[in-house]
Amino acid sequence: MNITVIHGPNLNRLGHRNKKHYGTLTLAEINKMLEEKAVKLNISLKIMQSNHEGEIIDFIQQSSDSANGIIINPGAFTHYSFAIRDALDDCTVPVIEVHLSNIYSREGFRAKSVTAEVCSGQISGIGAQGYLLALEGLYFLIKENKG
Ligand code: DQA
Repeated sequence: MNITVIHGPNLNRLGHRNKKHYGTLTLAEINKMLEEKAVKLNISLKIMQSNHEGEIIDFIQQSSDSANGIIINPGAFTHYSFAIRDALDDCTVPVIEVHLSNIYSREGFRAKSVTAEVCSGQISGIGAQGYLLALEGLYFLIKENKG
């Protein structure tokens, strides 16, 4: 099973950025946790990060053809990128959206996700563990052919 993980803008700053909302782990540490979990589930992971909307769309389109599922944290694009939403909507594999923070308990503009509406599911507010749960959830959806 091949799964792509896409980290959006500013997530390369994890560990330094707003620790109250995003915790103290760096992106490299989160990716290591994901890799360890993937080995246990016999999943082959491809992990990408970009601060650029078009590049994220390219990752989604490539993964739709080459992976069995996608985990994405679109960062702030979550709240307004109709272009990323359209790419996800066009995607032929299940997608789970992850947010480290609880986007529903912060500023009003974060409470709207235009991207989650076209995803199979969303995990928000449980920090880095959310990525691991997303991996398990996606594994289940793909195995059961759901999503
Ligand atoms: C985030 C939440 C977004 O609102 C924010 O812009 C981010 C991170 C999260 O993981 O909690 O960059 O996606």
